[in-house]
Amino acid sequence: MALVNMKKLLHDAKQGEYAVGAFNMANMETVMGAIKAAEDLNSPIILQIAEARLNYSPIELIGPIMIEAAKNSRVDVAVNFDHGLTLENIKKALDLGFTSVMIDGSKLPLEENIDLTKKVIEEAKRNGASVEAEVGRVGGSEDGSENINIAYTELEDARKFVDDTDVNFLAVAIGNAHGVYSGEPNLNFEVLKNISKEIEKPLVLHGGTGISEEDFRKSVKYGISKINIATSTFNSVSDSVKETYNNNNNINYFDISSAQAVGAYNNVYKHIKVFQSENKC
Ligand code: 13P
Repeated sequence: MALVNMKKLLHDAKQGEYAVGAFNMANMETVMGAIKAAEDLNSPIILQIAEARLNYSPIELIGPIMIEAAKNSRVDVAVNFDHGLTLENIKKALDLGFTSVMIDGSKLPLEENIDLTKKVIEEAKRNGASVEAEVGRVGGSEDGSENINIAYTELEDARKFVDDTDVNFLAVAIGNAHGVYSGEPNLNFEVLKNISKEIEKPLVLHGGTGISEEDFRKSVKYGISKINIATSTFNSVSDSVKETYNNNNNINYFDISSAQAVGAYNNVYKHIKVFQSENKC
C-alpha cells in the first residue's frame, strides 16, 4: 500500500457506499496517530492540511512528513491540500507531491469560481493530481477566524460547475459548517439527495466536527464519499495531552509527544468506524 491519488480512493468509496475520512494534520505526531488508526482498521485514509494553518505547520515541513508517512504506510493514503486559496501555495503543494488539491473559490461569484478552478486543474495535470472544489458556501471557516454564513449548494450551479470544469470532486454546502456548531447541526438531506442524483462526481462533506453518527451515516447513504474532520481531532489531541499531564507528576517531553499521537489516533479510529471504510484496503 502507498501514497495514492484521491481519485482511486473516492471512486472506490462511491461504488462501495462508504466514505473515506480526510483528517487535517498539524505535525508528525498527529500524522503518526492517524496512520496507525487507519492501519489498525485496514482503512484507506486522506491526510490534509489547510492553507489557513500554514503559519503553524509550514507546507515545506508538514508536506514531506505526510507524503513519506503515506509511502511507508500499510494502507492506501492520499495527501490533499485543503482549502487552497492561492495558486502560489497550490503549486507548492503540487511540487511537493500532494496527490490532490482543493481550490476554495466558494466566496467568488460562480463564473470566477469556475475560472479559478480551471486554472488549478491545468496546474494539477502536470503531475496527475486530482482537484476538489466547492460550490455554495460551507459555514464558519477552517481555522475559526471567520464566521462565514452558510449558502446551500444550488443544483443548477453544481451542474454548471461540473459541466464547465470537469472537476474531480465537489464539496457541497447542505447546512454544514467548520468548527464547533453554535446549535445542533441541521443538515438538509433533500439538497444532498438532489445533487447526488444528478452529479456523478464524488461529493465531499466539510465541517465534520459536531455532526452526529446518525447524520454521518445518512450523508454517506445519500451520496457523500469524503468527510473532512479537523477541529475534533485537534480537541482530542489537546484532551489527551491534558489528561497525560494531570495523571503524571514527572511528565517529560516524550510523554507529551506520545499523548498527541494517541489523541489523533482515538479520533481518527472512531470516525473510520462510522464512515464504514474499515477493511476497505
Ligand atoms: P471541522 O473543523 O468542522 O471538522 O471541519 C473540517 C473541514 O471541513 C476541513 O476542511
